[in-house]
Amino acid sequence: MDKFIIKGGRKLSGEVEISGAKNAILPIMVATLLAEGRSVLHNVPYLNDIKMMAHLLRVIGARVEFHDNILEIDTSHAGYCEAPYELVSKMRASIYVMGPLLGRFGKARVSFPGGCAIGTRPVDLHLEAMEALGAKIEIEHGYINANCKNMKGNKINFSKVSVGATANALMAAVLAQGETNIYNAALEPEIDSLIDFLNLMGARIEGKGTSQLKITGVSRLKPAEMEMIPDRIEAGTYLIAAAITKSELTVSNCIPEHIQALINRMEDAGCLFEIMGRSIKIFPPRIITPVDIITQPYPDFPTDLQAQFLALMTLADGQCIVEDTIFPDRFMHVAELNRLDADISLDKNIATINGVETLSGAEVMATDLRASATLVLAGLAARGQTTISRIYHIDRGYEHIEEKLKKLGADIKRVRG
Ligand code: UD1
Repeated sequence: MDKFIIKGGRKLSGEVEISGAKNAILPIMVATLLAEGRSVLHNVPYLNDIKMMAHLLRVIGARVEFHDNILEIDTSHAGYCEAPYELVSKMRASIYVMGPLLGRFGKARVSFPGGCAIGTRPVDLHLEAMEALGAKIEIEHGYINANCKNMKGNKINFSKVSVGATANALMAAVLAQGETNIYNAALEPEIDSLIDFLNLMGARIEGKGTSQLKITGVSRLKPAEMEMIPDRIEAGTYLIAAAITKSELTVSNCIPEHIQALINRMEDAGCLFEIMGRSIKIFPPRIITPVDIITQPYPDFPTDLQAQFLALMTLADGQCIVEDTIFPDRFMHVAELNRLDADISLDKNIATINGVETLSGAEVMATDLRASATLVLAGLAARGQTTISRIYHIDRGYEHIEEKLKKLGADIKRVRG
């Protein structure tokens, strides 16, 4: 297994370009299954999750080619309606195939996702949505078997905001007969992007950007071509990299409004920002002011930036709390940050951070995707050498992270294991 070795304490400078958003691309890749023919996605990063989804689409019978950050998916021969355990267990987003497979082929067999490093992650809302549209769901031998000859539009009222369930419901509803109304839909930019793609395919979805979506079913969809949106979590991670290393940095090719909640909190911490179109220049504070955060669905503070922001707060001038209401168990990074001399205590889903003057390098272990980014951030700021093992997690979601950081002046190297 590969490791990162970081010699911390260096300032960063220059400009970093943000890649396409993995979490927007995964459902769009799957949405191509709704039509017959060749769809083309631009601005797709080389990430393990993308490659894994490409593999799943091939299992289903699609032809997938990936070159120059362009993904071409030909679904003409797709039709094997199964997402096997080997893939779902490695990537929960595999559950996305349920909606499109039910919508186009009337059946889906998807391995039941288990727990993961950030806690138990149920799929009850996905299943309720499929049932509301007429699917018969049976769970046996660790698989979800969903069947429906003709999906029919209905009202879907989510009891909780879920990005994944909203995406799955949308993809199942676009080919269903009649009208579907989704209430309490997720507002994340990744959902807007999926709606754009589905509408390009010929779907009729209204209400983009609101929590109430109206879908008028159509009988056929056609393949589509679209540019993928930039990754707001990657952009946020680099802004925090600048602040934690006290560096001025320009983060380009991003959509600043997608990370407004982070920018607001970082301003509270003392950072200054110059926003020009699709780029953000950050000016770090000399002293980091402690700032409390609570993660909530978009447009509030994202859980996917909780761990990174927490790393920044380890160097704040005082005490603050970080609370995660979306994934209450998502705090595996706390113990690792404490190995770097941070002072964090955890009570259920609330971390209390007492800022320290410096972090010091140590050997730590990456536990999940965002936690690994957090350890990189802490390593960049820490005095001495930090070795991060199990960095395969980071390769799931950050394109060329060590090259990008090296270009900014960081001393980071990958040791192949
Ligand atoms: C997506 C993102 C993930 C991000 C999360 C929240 C992808 C591939 N992943 O995950 O990076 O952290 O949104 O922004 O885009 N829930 C249920 N029942 C369900 C589904 C979800 O109770 O059927 C709960 C979850 O446990 C969680 C909350 O709803 O507490 C939100 O989860 P959800 O938005 O569904 O997250 P994902 O779509 O899995």
